[in-house]
Amino acid sequence: MNIVEIKEIVVETPSIKTFYFDQGLDIYPGQFVMVWIPGEDEYPMSLPFQKDRQGITVRKVGPGTEALHSRKVGDRIGIRGPYGNGYDLFGEKILAVIGGIGGASVLPAIVEAAESGREVVCALGGRTEKELLFLDRLSELTDLKVATDDGSAGHHGFVTDLVEDLMHDIDLIITCGPEVMMKRVFQISKRYGVPIQASLERYMKCGIGVCGSCVVDGLRVCAEGPVLNGPQLADLDEFGKCERDPTGKKVPLDRPKPSY
Ligand SMILES: Cc1cc2nc3c(=O)[nH]c(=O)nc-3n(C[C@H](O)[C@H](O)[C@H](O)COP(=O)(O)OP(=O)(O)OC[C@H]3O[C@@H](n4cnc5c(N)ncnc54)[C@H](O)[C@@H]3O)c2cc1C
Ligand code: FES
Repeated sequence: MNIVEIKEIVVETPSIKTFYFDQGLDIYPGQFVMVWIPGEDEYPMSLPFQKDRQGITVRKVGPGTEALHSRKVGDRIGIRGPYGNGYDLFGEKILAVIGGIGGASVLPAIVEAAESGREVVCALGGRTEKELLFLDRLSELTDLKVATDDGSAGHHGFVTDLVEDLMHDIDLIITCGPEVMMKRVFQISKRYGVPIQASLERYMKCGIGVCGSCVVDGLRVCAEGPVLNGPQLADLDEFGKCERDPTGKKVPLDRPKPSY
């Protein structure tokens, strides 16, 4: 593990902050790191930035991410990784479907696609206009369509409502966000016969394929994923249905969770 100093903190949205640190990680878009917060635990986090500055972009959802949000410039955190695979970009026109914090995983793939001359169409969803992550960057890099739950920007409703209208000459769909969203995008991809890659989230302890806490239908999300392709997703009975809790017990994805 490398101990790094937080060099800069950027407030991205009311619930999301980016913590920049100096670390020359060689990253493939879609990979993640295990982040140790002193006094807390380790948490998996995507790596949204590849080149000049590295960092993590974190939504405050519970005790660990709340502790990180209270850290200041000059504080130290631990970083292990990068781990996992990443997006395997191909084709000339890519559709990115992003929900909430999912942009932290998808942004570097979009940057790479745009830099290699591919056309990128993006459907970005969030709870409100203020919660749309990386809005400016995505509108520079892609043909951007937006959806919000409260109608404060773009389409009033789910980001998945936008997808079918965008399925013109798409060679590949990449997606990250709530699993119910990704499941719906997967179903659309199947109907149109378009390849898909989705980044899954599961409870992670080791991050390196040893402990089994992230297993979904026998597949280790930290090692074989987090980005899974269409045929892999089609084989998963648990996709969109259940995950494992910290004790390893299978629990429904749509179970009521304590509000924080
Ligand atoms: C590969 C991967 C990449 C991720 N990238 C990001 C990112 O870039 N930005 C971001 O904000 N979040 C990301 N997450 C989710 C992030 O790890 C959790 O939100 C965080 O661990 C929550 O911890 P907490 O104590 O604040 O919340 P808790 O209240 O403990 O949990 C809130 C939710 O996060 C899940 N969670 C808690 N601990 C873990 C863990 N060790 N592993 C996986 N899920 C956990 C819980 O199951 C629950 O659904 C990623 C998760 C994975 C698996
Ligand atoms: S987190 Fe331990 S096997 Fe994936």
